[in-house]
Amino acid sequence: MGAKITPSATAAIEAAVAARRGAGLPVYRLGLGEPDFAVAPEIADAVFRAARAPAGYTPTAGVLGLREAIAEMFTARLARDVRPSDVIATAGAKQAIYLALSVVCAADDEVLIPVPYWVSFPEQVRLAGGVPVYLDPPGASDRLSAQSLKANVRDRSRVLILNSPNNPSGIVYNALELEEIAAACVELNLQVISDEVYSAFVFSAGGHRSIATYAGMAQRTIVIDSASKTYGMPGWRLGYATGPRELIEAMVAIASHTTSNASSLAQAAAEAALRGNQESVSSHREEYLARARWLADRIRSIPRIGAASEIEGGFFLWLDLSAFLGSRTARGFRSVDDLAASALDETGVALQPGTAFGSPRHIRMSVAAPEAELRDGVDRLEAFLEGL
Ligand SMILES: Cc1ncc(COP(=O)(O)O)c(C=O)c1O
Repeated sequence: MGAKITPSATAAIEAAVAARRGAGLPVYRLGLGEPDFAVAPEIADAVFRAARAPAGYTPTAGVLGLREAIAEMFTARLARDVRPSDVIATAGAKQAIYLALSVVCAADDEVLIPVPYWVSFPEQVRLAGGVPVYLDPPGASDRLSAQSLKANVRDRSRVLILNSPNNPSGIVYNALELEEIAAACVELNLQVISDEVYSAFVFSAGGHRSIATYAGMAQRTIVIDSASKTYGMPGWRLGYATGPRELIEAMVAIASHTTSNASSLAQAAAEAALRGNQESVSSHREEYLARARWLADRIRSIPRIGAASEIEGGFFLWLDLSAFLGSRTARGFRSVDDLAASALDETGVALQPGTAFGSPRHIRMSVAAPEAELRDGVDRLEAFLEGL
């Protein structure tokens, strides 16, 4: 089974960027989603302290102090009592999502994935033995609705993956939408994996809400979050999940036979981060919001790009480049992949084609990039598109 899995498309762009940099050529990375801030000093200090202590294995689910901190965070978010035994710390949200799929998915169960989606969802579903089923939102909208969920559910549909704020669309589901989707999940008896890794970066009114807080959802939802985006430490690999205790225990059992515990150094970092004053999170949110507003305005000034009017949350702007594809320009690009390859080759601008996220017409742009690189990159992209 594993031999049929394709590598992550974002990793392929990274490789092309690295090759260009290796050749001494300039690169403007507009598509990747990595926090570009150093970690807060108290987080780094915690790692140094932990590195001087004995480096034994920890409990598979994580050290108690970290699980207490994660449980307190989820207790506040979910407005119910989450205990340390209800959580697991993992090597990033990516591992948490995979473990969650492994426990909720029986062979050939269908897992519903709204389009556009984060690249790893379909392949993780396949790895877990399930079948990905894509939910295309109606019309030009990128929003899943309870109606479209009900209209597309089939006999073997068992699980919905909901990602809000969304990578790549930047959508944040509001309270009414979540309430309706939650009611549909109860009616259809679906389990939900709620990927909330961008929860710290919500810009729309109302802030972040978890679908797990709605009626009937606590017992059918596994909530996933991560220190990667929130605390700017993606390379250290520390994610977390909570959900019904028997499902979390099953996730811990699988981890105990595969990876064992997440790195003890990353656990120390995440505990310090969750226990810290959260000032760096607020200042990063402000910074990302300022960049998101600037980028959305700048993109609107470029003719013929179809853009989401605002980023509601997360790091990404999702742009429709249909007007530059096919016979609409002399270059005749067949897909955004061809367009992105030429843009990188001719201008050094690294775009993330939407194909791997479920749309061959879109590209994804990220605000998690240094501001100067964003400005220069968008100028170059505009000149490139004008010349087509
Ligand atoms: C929607 C989404 N979920 C999960 C992840 C994985 O995050 P982590 O670094 O915690 O594994 C990412 C990372 O890009 C993401 O965008």
